[in-house]
Amino acid sequence: MPAPEPVRRRAEQLRTELDEHSYRYYVLDDPTVSDAEFDVLVRELAALEAEHPDLRTPDSPTQRAGYAPAATFASVTHDVRMWSLDNAFDRDELQAWADRIAKLVAGPIRFVGEPKLDGLAISLLYVDGRLVRGATRGDGTTGEDVTANVLTIADVPRELRGRGLPARMEVRGEVFMRLDAFEALNRRQDEAEERRFANPRNAAAGSLRQKDPRVTAARSLSFFAYQVEVADGAVPAPSHHATLDRLRDWGLPVNPEIEPLADIDAVAAFCARMEAQRHGLGYEIDGAVVKVDDLAQRVEMGHTSKAPRWAIAYKFPPEEKTTLLHDIMVSIGRTGRATPFAVMEPVFVGGSTVAMATLHNQDEVARKDVRPGDTVVVRKAGDVIPEVVGSIAAKRPKRSRPWVFPSECPSCGGPLVRLDGEADAHCVNVDCPAQRVARIVYFAGRAAMDIEGLGEERVRQFVDAGLLADPADVYALTVEALLPLERMAQKSAENLVAAVAASRDRGLARVLIGLGIRHFGPAAAQAAARTFGDLDRLRAASVEELTAVEGIGPVIAQSVAAFFATAHNHHVLDKLRAAGVDLRAPLAAPAATDGPLVGCTVVLTGGLTGFTRDAAQAEIEARGGKVTGSVSKKTTFVVAGADPGSKLAKAEQLGVRVLDEPGFVRLLAEGPAGLG
Ligand code: IVH
Repeated sequence: MPAPEPVRRRAEQLRTELDEHSYRYYVLDDPTVSDAEFDVLVRELAALEAEHPDLRTPDSPTQRAGYAPAATFASVTHDVRMWSLDNAFDRDELQAWADRIAKLVAGPIRFVGEPKLDGLAISLLYVDGRLVRGATRGDGTTGEDVTANVLTIADVPRELRGRGLPARMEVRGEVFMRLDAFEALNRRQDEAEERRFANPRNAAAGSLRQKDPRVTAARSLSFFAYQVEVADGAVPAPSHHATLDRLRDWGLPVNPEIEPLADIDAVAAFCARMEAQRHGLGYEIDGAVVKVDDLAQRVEMGHTSKAPRWAIAYKFPPEEKTTLLHDIMVSIGRTGRATPFAVMEPVFVGGSTVAMATLHNQDEVARKDVRPGDTVVVRKAGDVIPEVVGSIAAKRPKRSRPWVFPSECPSCGGPLVRLDGEADAHCVNVDCPAQRVARIVYFAGRAAMDIEGLGEERVRQFVDAGLLADPADVYALTVEALLPLERMAQKSAENLVAAVAASRDRGLARVLIGLGIRHFGPAAAQAAARTFGDLDRLRAASVEELTAVEGIGPVIAQSVAAFFATAHNHHVLDKLRAAGVDLRAPLAAPAATDGPLVGCTVVLTGGLTGFTRDAAQAEIEARGGKVTGSVSKKTTFVVAGADPGSKLAKAEQLGVRVLDEPGFVRLLAEGPAGLG
């Protein structure tokens, strides 16, 4: 039975009030009611909705993350697909694009030039001028409902104003983080001893996909609108630039750098100007987007399978800067690998300050012929990782000599050994302090025991103080032992000891990952842990038994066997056991032999928001699918989360189908058939 009118009105009133309170709380940071008062209102609304389900709207405050935390974001199917863009990398490619589209329409083509913001695309749905939904792009067809988070972005109007508002309008644009907000965020991450964000794009993406909108609210995201897809009930604008003018009048932020351009020469000049200004805008752009202005011409041009023909992204070449190479030093990793790296006069390039860059190995230094004292060219590879391109011969100081790879380990003084046919030299002393530090940092790292607050600096300090010699010593740290150290207050010591204690129950697979056994990656470690169930059975396994495990080949098996054949490693494992670390794993559930994913092999890469790696794997296996660690022609799907690794590139190279998180959710819900 539908709710009686007075109840309906009360629900409406509660929704309005709650929206206002959350706006004041999340956006203005200026609440007028206490959390408890807020909760009373939420509970009243939830009770009305429970009694009268017809009152429950998808955007009700009771349905949003933050009030009623959702396990994952709900999926949103876009009314109109969110296309991506084709790229042009130079002036000739721009010209070729203009020539191509000129053949598709009669008459001259006018353009609009826009900065290509380096953030993430978002779709905003306004009904009767009110924001009712915000969704990510996802795979273009299905995205995630991030309404609660979008509502915290100050640039995004909750209500449009002005005349001629459409009854229903979908606006698209970019959510991004300005450089000052990005730097402030990383300063806060440093203070909290949390991991820094690599670039503003990652920070924006991570911030928008938070479960708790209060976290998003604290991140200072920005937004610019650049596209209208559906506008029911409004007089259509004739051109893109007129549409953008209208958006501006209705209160939506539109980038002031956007310009109408008469022809392709003006387009090229616009692209060049954007490139020259790219670091003066206060936010990162990675190119310019050029769009056909006339909307009727756009319809005639249409789309390819991936992108509209009427738009193109002009991508900037990676920015290069010169700086002074002060020195070449060598760092020692957890396996003893010696990696040379450049120490440079800090230089601002590609959106951040660079003072160090890896030089990979001895041959690479020789090939690039870079020497201390050289003026070198630096750029960001893939616009993230700093790279030394080479040196400028004309600026080389007289009497400069080629750099010589050291023969001794800079940490322990032991020999650096480079075997025939290998690119890398290694410090072979297992007691080397640098290796020790790197091993313990790895053990405490996110992929392994995930001990909050135990980063490189702390580990080095504790190793120097004689508190840590191997990973198992971590469990012997006490507040009393830590307190006398520099920069160690009572509270941080207590937190650290508590974080260590909390890591005892991570289970065998994480311990194995943390020990950094050569070739033994997370997928193999998990497979081994689940097959053998506990450390003792794994330790007793022969090479043959190991090789029989799905995902473990002879190289991994040999390496694991060699690890367990070393007395020192037994000693560490025994210490871990004595310290109460859980060295068991839940036994593998028998593989499901039916289910929608039988015959599918899935590779997971990058972080997912709604699943841990283990949970994602369990979901796949419960449906009869298989999870492996590396991409091959036999792989059915690669699921790519945030910051995917090289597996994504491999998948693209082999033509393996890649799914993002909403696609993965659909795969789980509907099987491969659901992907269309
Ligand atoms: S238009 C069909 N305009 O670039 C039109 N996209 O590489 C599609 N982007 O997913 C988008 N700035 O996230 C457009 N001014 C701009 C943009 C822009 C950045 C992003 C957007 C899109 C990606 C495609």
